[in-house]
Amino acid sequence: MPARFCTKWQFCLGLFCSLALLSISAEAAKFAPNYDEAKVPEYTLPDPLIDSHGKPVTDAKTWTDVRRPEILALFEKEIYGKAPGRPEALWFETALVDPDALDGRAVRKEVVVHFTKEANGPSMRLMLYLPKNAKGPVPAFLALNFFGNHSIHPDPKITLSDRWMRSNKKKGIKNHRATEASRGTSQSRWPVEKILDRGYALATVYYGDIDPDFNDGFQNGIHPHFYREGQTRPDPNQWGSISAWAWGLSRAMDYLETETGVDARRVAVMGHSRLGKTSLWAGATDERFALVISNDSGCGGAALSRRKFGETYGFMKDVIGYWFCENWKKYADREDEMPVDQHMLIALMAPRPVYVASAVEDRWADPKGEFLSTLHASGVYELFGLKGVSADTMPEVDQPADQGTIGYHVRQGRHNVTDFDWDQYLNFFDKLYHTEGLRSNPGPKSF
Ligand code: GCU
Repeated sequence: MPARFCTKWQFCLGLFCSLALLSISAEAAKFAPNYDEAKVPEYTLPDPLIDSHGKPVTDAKTWTDVRRPEILALFEKEIYGKAPGRPEALWFETALVDPDALDGRAVRKEVVVHFTKEANGPSMRLMLYLPKNAKGPVPAFLALNFFGNHSIHPDPKITLSDRWMRSNKKKGIKNHRATEASRGTSQSRWPVEKILDRGYALATVYYGDIDPDFNDGFQNGIHPHFYREGQTRPDPNQWGSISAWAWGLSRAMDYLETETGVDARRVAVMGHSRLGKTSLWAGATDERFALVISNDSGCGGAALSRRKFGETYGFMKDVIGYWFCENWKKYADREDEMPVDQHMLIALMAPRPVYVASAVEDRWADPKGEFLSTLHASGVYELFGLKGVSADTMPEVDQPADQGTIGYHVRQGRHNVTDFDWDQYLNFFDKLYHTEGLRSNPGPKSF
């Protein structure tokens, strides 16, 4: 009887997830992270400016034609896993338009991005706010969210997500489903009105629409839709979850390119924590993103892995190893053997602008390691005649570094996204794209 089977199956899934989450906290309790700078091991970083044949890279063209593709291929094969491209059958369905959202300040749309031709096939629901009185297409921020589109703002008209979610009582998630109580529960991280008042659009998608965040051997989410006949899980060099979420960001960009209210040449991709790791990987793999922002992305994101400060690959491997590809696992506790480190991920954005943000109390994410990545990526920006970060040492707390094309700040406080963070992103975006000199720029690639 299908109905009974379904109920049992859901029960088992719930139990499985709860056990998985319990084991994450158990693992975390066992792991003793290093928070002592004196205990950071000596390390030598691979040089982004020496190619695989040992030849120095001294000009922008060689970077673009030779070295960048080499580094991108290494990250793809060894760290995050290769994702497929745009599905042929991709289509967009405008499911809802609210012409008077936010007390008339905005137009709010919900667009279903269908990944296959079937209307009931896999899909994600993108929510877009456009400033109401814009005179033309506006630049936009695109960011995945953790608990459904309805969690970013209390507006009762936002469709409540019915997808699987990580349990979180405070966020109003019960039995892995959002309840009415979850509306607006993440709003402190999403200053929607401010973003719109500054002239930007905001697009967001629930990351679990693309791949639910638990380890089921890639049986749900987007992965199985791309398996070859007989394939049951990704090959060792194929996409883990971060790569799948980044793939979803590219599909959101496919939609934004069709949206007349948005200037698709000026889309910033932003993400926090695991979604900051994801925004960096999306920025690396998809050069349509004009600006890439990593908020507290830490290990596997902006932080140098070889420092082993706070979270390490060794910790991640058995707990959240499915975020990466299978090949990545061999580097757990053998970070020195990696052909890349995260400064090379930052360098993959060049010459496009990138912003990395840290928080002082977020030692798990290694603020210094995040800063050092920006510093060691700066040489690549210099090939383009651009300034990366300007100082060799971390800026003062709450004082954004004197910015070149790489932005960086460390703010006071915990692992979070705050108004202070958003203010810096808005200022950086303003400076880069609204200044007279750049307004006539034909597109991000020419930065
Ligand atoms: C955990 C995980 C981090 C991740 C964070 C998050 O702390 O260890 O790598 O960034 O969750 O995404 O919230």
